[in-house]
Amino acid sequence: MNQVSRAHWGGRFAFILAAAGSAIGLGNIWKFPYMTGHNGGGAFVLVYLFCIAVVGLPILIAEIYIGKEAQENAVRAFDHFDKKNSPWGKIGIWGIVSSLMLLAFYSVVGGWVMNYEFQAISNQLLTKSDDILTNYLGELITHQPLTQLIWHTVFMGCTVGIVAKGVSKGIERWTKILMPVLFILLGFLLVYSFFLDGFGQSLQFLFFPDFSKLTWSAILEAVGHSFFTLSIGMGVMIAYGSYLQPSESAISTGIIITLLDTLIALVAGIIIFAVVFSFDQSPSAGPGLMFVTLPLLFKQIPGAWIITNAFFILVTFAAISSSISLLEVAVSYASEEKNWSRPKAAWGIGIATWAVGILCAFPELTIIAGKNMFDTLDIATSKVMFPLGGILMSLFFGWIVMPKSIDRFAKATNPLTAYGLMWVTRIVAPLSVGIMLFKGVKEMLGM
Ligand code: PHE
Repeated sequence: MNQVSRAHWGGRFAFILAAAGSAIGLGNIWKFPYMTGHNGGGAFVLVYLFCIAVVGLPILIAEIYIGKEAQENAVRAFDHFDKKNSPWGKIGIWGIVSSLMLLAFYSVVGGWVMNYEFQAISNQLLTKSDDILTNYLGELITHQPLTQLIWHTVFMGCTVGIVAKGVSKGIERWTKILMPVLFILLGFLLVYSFFLDGFGQSLQFLFFPDFSKLTWSAILEAVGHSFFTLSIGMGVMIAYGSYLQPSESAISTGIIITLLDTLIALVAGIIIFAVVFSFDQSPSAGPGLMFVTLPLLFKQIPGAWIITNAFFILVTFAAISSSISLLEVAVSYASEEKNWSRPKAAWGIGIATWAVGILCAFPELTIIAGKNMFDTLDIATSKVMFPLGGILMSLFFGWIVMPKSIDRFAKATNPLTAYGLMWVTRIVAPLSVGIMLFKGVKEMLGM
């Protein structure tokens, strides 16, 4: 597809908002705080920041660069630097499969959030007794498949509806509304948490590392999460980058997106732990941290209804701006390579993915090594598929793209940055992620 007919973002700012919208999601507000709480706080945060800087940012820059230079979808983009029908394009196919697998269960969690929001706005959440509220997520997951299915359907419907509209009328228009609202809501909650007794303790928990609490498995989780949170390793950023004008800088946009994503994760962590410590709760509650602890605690605070609604609306927005990017990778490929119309591609692929997601609503159903569909998709994507995709993309960028582009990078920045980026993507990133991939495969197979 040539550059003239290809859709483009309205500008650099629109791209940054859309890409930050993809990066900032359940990973920042739901996963990061519970992983941090579960892994003992500050030391985990430090390792996570290190992984973001050393592995995440370079691969993010690589993906944006590959996309914007090639101006092609996540499969075809590889041809631009290699040859027609390049075997590297398989990385793109791998990326499409992994992003749809992630979307299948992401939509289920997005559905939980929407269900909480519905309960909050209709005043059914905060009126539950503490006991019922504590068990509500578990109850929803194990005993209410229909409710889960309804919200999974609504969530997927919103995602498909936006993607079907296209890049500028759908994704750009919506992220331009969703992201600023999200920043404002989060700012509001941060100010609010500042006045809680647990604010200082929250900062201490997040920023004063206690290395005795750091385990090998926490380090591996931090590597996996750096992929998840930056939306890298599956071609999402290649697809989004391909709607960027080639004259834009992959390095500066990559840095801004990474900073925004990291900032939001830390702010979400500060807020959540300020509430947790103010009410003497345990930070290590696991995946239920956001869903169980927070409403329980919101209940006891003045202005509970507003705070609870603000919070769940915020998380819903963050989740939708991420899920649309997951669907976009496959839709751009199908509409460009298979000549499907965009709505047909969006609805067709969306419905197929939705059907896989349905299986997540049945936790007793075993898929692999004693794990149900939800856990299988979660572990397979975060711990195996993104890291593998990321390693291959990093190698492709370092060994094939960089030799041709090193002068441009050196001119745009300086030789040290250019060579640094080349060697990090050639060796440092693939090697460190490779170690963790090995462990991830073992975990998935239950070994
Ligand atoms: N980065 C998103 C989050 O943090 C999840 C995501 C991963 C979205 C990969 C797109 C691609 O929630």
